[in-house]
Formats: sequence, C-alpha cells, structure tokens
Amino acid sequence: MEKIRKAVIPVAGFGTRFLPATKATPKEMMPIVDKPIIQYIVEEAVASGIETIIFVTGRHKRAIEDHFDYAPELEYALTKSGKEEYVNIIREISDMADFVYIRQKEQLGLGHAILMAEHVIGNEPFAVLLGDELIINNENPGIHQLIEVYRKFGKSVLGTTEVPKEETYKYGIVEGTFIEDHIRLVNYLVEKPDPEEAPSTSAIIGRYILTPDIFNALKRTPFGKGGELQLTDALMTLRKDEVIYSKDIEGIRHDTGNKLGYIKAIIDFALERADTKDFVRELIINKARELEG
Ligand code: G1P
Repeated sequence: MEKIRKAVIPVAGFGTRFLPATKATPKEMMPIVDKPIIQYIVEEAVASGIETIIFVTGRHKRAIEDHFDYAPELEYALTKSGKEEYVNIIREISDMADFVYIRQKEQLGLGHAILMAEHVIGNEPFAVLLGDELIINNENPGIHQLIEVYRKFGKSVLGTTEVPKEETYKYGIVEGTFIEDHIRLVNYLVEKPDPEEAPSTSAIIGRYILTPDIFNALKRTPFGKGGELQLTDALMTLRKDEVIYSKDIEGIRHDTGNKLGYIKAIIDFALERADTKDFVRELIINKARELEG
C-alpha cells in the first residue's frame, strides 16, 4: 500500500464572508488568537505524516507563501533585540514540510482546484484538507484517521460528521452502509442538497484521501452546482468504477468559514491556552453576569 505523502490544500477562495478583512488579506491567514487558520491545517497534515503540501492558490494570496517561507530580516531583527524565542517559532513553520504553490487562474470550483494539482501529485493517493474546518484531536489528527482507513482498504476515504437536517444545503452529503463502527461504504453522494432532498445527514467536512483515479473522474464530470466543477460530483463518477469509504471523524470541529464559528473557535482556543485561559474565563463569567443584569 502506498504511503500518503502529499496533501492538497485549496486556498484560492475570495473569503467573501469576512469582507472587509479579506479585501487584501487571505481568509486563511486570519488568526485564531495568534496563529493563522492555515497553520493549524498544515500542522494537522504534518502530524499525520504528510511531507509535501500543495497549495492551490490565487491572486492576493502571497501572504500564505510568505508565512511558510524563511523570514531572514525578521529573524535578524528578533535576534538583535534578544527575542530568540520567536526566532524558533517562525523558523519551524517553514521547516515543517515542502511547500508547492499552484495558481488556479480561474475560480471554477473545488474539483477544478484539485485537478490543478494533478501534475504534482502524479499517480499516487493523496490527502485533501479544506481550510474552513479546524478539527482538533491531539491523539489522532483528523486526516490521520482517514489515512488509517485508507491503509486498511486502499481506496478513497471521505471524512464525515452528522449535521442537523436543516444544514445539509451547506455540505456534500454521503449516503452509505456501515461496515464497521464509524466507517461506511459509500453508495451515493450529492453536493449541498436541500434538507427535504438529502439522502442522509452525513456531511463531508473538508477532509479526503483520494486515489489518483479522481483526476480522470474529474475530467469526465460535468460542471454542477453553482456552475462549478464539484469534487462531490466527481466522487460520484469515481464511485461507478471503484468503492469509496467514509469515516466519521472524531474530534472537536470548528467551522471557521463563517463569522459565528470563527468567534466561537477563538473563544474555545483562548479558554485552552495557558497564557489566555484565566483572563478569558473571567471575562466571560463577568460578561454573562452583566448581560443577565
Ligand atoms: C466544500 C465541498 C462540500 C463540503 C464542504 C466542507 O464546500 O464542496 O462538499 O461538504 O466543502 O467544508 P464549500 O464549503 O467550500 O462550499
């Protein structure tokens, strides 16, 4: 069985929900306390054994490239002013993995973004991580849970979770048959169905292990919802040729792709960190008292 060495992280989206913050700053660079969202995603991949990160980027995303590059002037200035502890923090970011950047010239959908990475992936299975969802599981990172299923069956694996029925319109929805605890054999997939048409409430949460056969499937799949080439549709095409599995990911999930989820993520993270938790806890308690009058 081939090792999963490469991960594709699409980062070309406009981040419309966070305007004006995202007018000149990539949404992936928005911080949760003091670390940009994209760094959490890369750390999850690296902790799962990924060696090469392929960013599919677009215009106005240079800050992401700079973030994962060395910053010699900054290191020099920090050293000179006796702040060596920060030098390691910023250097480790660039040493985590090999980084490759591919420009997606047109925004034609998630499926199209994945197709852009074909020549860098070649003929091996790979991971996909979407930046809008943070999955926290320190014992077994989200994408690693899918790699474990891949190691067992050697086929594509989609990361899922149960969502409320009224939210199916936000996700790719998977209908499948349980073959083990938390693992399904996928029968049917549909992108963002209305609740009354959804075949289940098992939603894809931005983590995938894909066999390289997905590239041919993408090329054979017509553009779908929103006039975009949908990865979910291509998975349905692939499903006709080979089996696909889904796995309910265990961990705490934060949907940072919308304002409310983002605010909640910051509060949750701040309540965990040694340097912020006492302050934030007290702040929340006092605020709650104040609000209750
Ligand atoms: C994408 C996928 C969708 C998936 C979702 C997870 O949609 O197309 O199938 O459920 O990510 O975050 P997006 O949220 O990018 O519109």
